Amino acid sequence: MFGKRPTGGGDTTPRQKPAAPSAAVPKAAAPVAAPKAAIPTAPPPAPNLSPAPEKKAVPPPIAIESRSDQYYEVKTTIFNALIDTIDLAQLAQLDAESAREEIRDIVNEIIAIKNVTMSIAEQEQLLQDICNDVLGYGPLEPLLARDDIADIMVNGAERVFIEVGGKVQLTNVRFRDNAQLMNICQRIVSQIGRRVDESSPICDARLPDGSRVNVIAPPLAIDGPTLTIRKFKKDKLKMADLVRFGSISPEGATVLNVIGNCRCNVLISGGTGSGKTTLLNTMTAFIDIDERIITCEDAAELQLQQPHVVRLETRPPNLEGTGEITMRDLVKNCLRMRPERIIVGEVRGPEAFDLLQAMNTGHDGSMGTLHANSPREALQRVESMITMGGYNLPSKTIREMVTGAIDVIVQAARLRDGSRRITHITEVIGLEGDVVITQDLFLYEITGEDESGRVRGRHVSTGISRPAFWDRARYFNRERELLEALEAAAAK
Ligand SMILES: Nc1ncnc2c1ncn2[C@@H]1O[C@H](COP(=O)(O)OP(=O)(O)OP(=O)(O)O)[C@@H](O)[C@H]1O
Ligand SMILES: [Mg+2]
Repeated sequence: MFGKRPTGGGDTTPRQKPAAPSAAVPKAAAPVAAPKAAIPTAPPPAPNLSPAPEKKAVPPPIAIESRSDQYYEVKTTIFNALIDTIDLAQLAQLDAESAREEIRDIVNEIIAIKNVTMSIAEQEQLLQDICNDVLGYGPLEPLLARDDIADIMVNGAERVFIEVGGKVQLTNVRFRDNAQLMNICQRIVSQIGRRVDESSPICDARLPDGSRVNVIAPPLAIDGPTLTIRKFKKDKLKMADLVRFGSISPEGATVLNVIGNCRCNVLISGGTGSGKTTLLNTMTAFIDIDERIITCEDAAELQLQQPHVVRLETRPPNLEGTGEITMRDLVKNCLRMRPERIIVGEVRGPEAFDLLQAMNTGHDGSMGTLHANSPREALQRVESMITMGGYNLPSKTIREMVTGAIDVIVQAARLRDGSRRITHITEVIGLEGDVVITQDLFLYEITGEDESGRVRGRHVSTGISRPAFWDRARYFNRERELLEALEAAAAK
């Protein structure tokens, strides 16, 4: 029943007339989440002569490790002596524990020979740091060990930023020099058989724990090797967490549950780091356990709980520039793997065409994320991805394909205070002439800001009680729940 859905004419269950068609692709975007700006009727106000607001002071770096400059000097001396003494190739043959023991013995000897005065605790600290440098990821180790850090951003040896609780902060972590940083970058990428140097200065990689890594080295990165790590969260957020954080209202969460469960085709749209992958992961939790799911990602981040999941990952070209497997190759191959659902980590190119085709030909319940700042922009992005993929199709045909394929767009955003919110749950209704008609079910309305600078707002229903996927919800026996959630949200 909910297999192929023609874009016009052949639909046996007529779609409900949209109560409030709200967005159309070709029109200019209007801010929906924010309160509407009044159209000025009065003459422009006199120029504001009050002094310009003071620039924000740069906050001091937050201390991750409390080490004095003197400590770093001692460490460098001992480290250099150690490197002169040990045979790194031989050390690499040992398992981690034996290598650590070997380093411990030599470091203790060096401390004795050089007559360095240190407490036992300081010696332990030094040993730990040196082991991290020789065997692990050096100064990154304490950051990697913390689960509350979302991103680590290293801009050359001296400047390491982290994102914690939505806020980006400078830390006091630093590398000895750019050579050490480059060494660590090299160590990270060599684990997946890649190399980063002047001749191939851009590289994507993954840490053994699944964290996503990007390295860009000089001469492209002007101020030294630049490393960006999206930390892999072992305990992925669940919908209940998103409700607890206020990212979505309880009613909105129920609606998303129904959307995910009753096989709507969903696009999750949002800016960088807005929580798209997290949201996609939480939505996949609503998929039935007996469905065959195939995931396609650039770096495997999704953690599906169902038993029948095939995980696919793209492959960059090798050093000779061959052997690349693109997202499009994966999505195309997916179709020959008898998928019931296709989940694409991030749609960013011509694979959009194949995904839409899959959505239009019986693989409903497919999902994907894409970079866009509003549902309307997301539709435009899909259209332009198809056009740029070299398909010479009239724009009306592309729009028919888009509207036939996509049922719902969920918009994620990272607000200026660092909090993440779902700002829109929007249905794609269909085409009227050349215009794509969409209908918002939920919006996030910003109402102000509290004393500590946190954005205040709330999720509001647009009053729609019969969304276009109503029949689908009924088919899956979820219509009562859907109606109750929508009515409860409208009554708030
Ligand atoms: N609703 C939320 N509340 C709090 N933290 C969140 C929320 N959603 C995501 N996060 C955290 O924000 C970080 C970025 O999330 P995520 O990887 O999902 O973003 P993304 O939009 O996929 O990023 P990218 O564009 O880089 O792929 C993660 O550490 C995640 O745990
Ligand atoms: Mg992502």
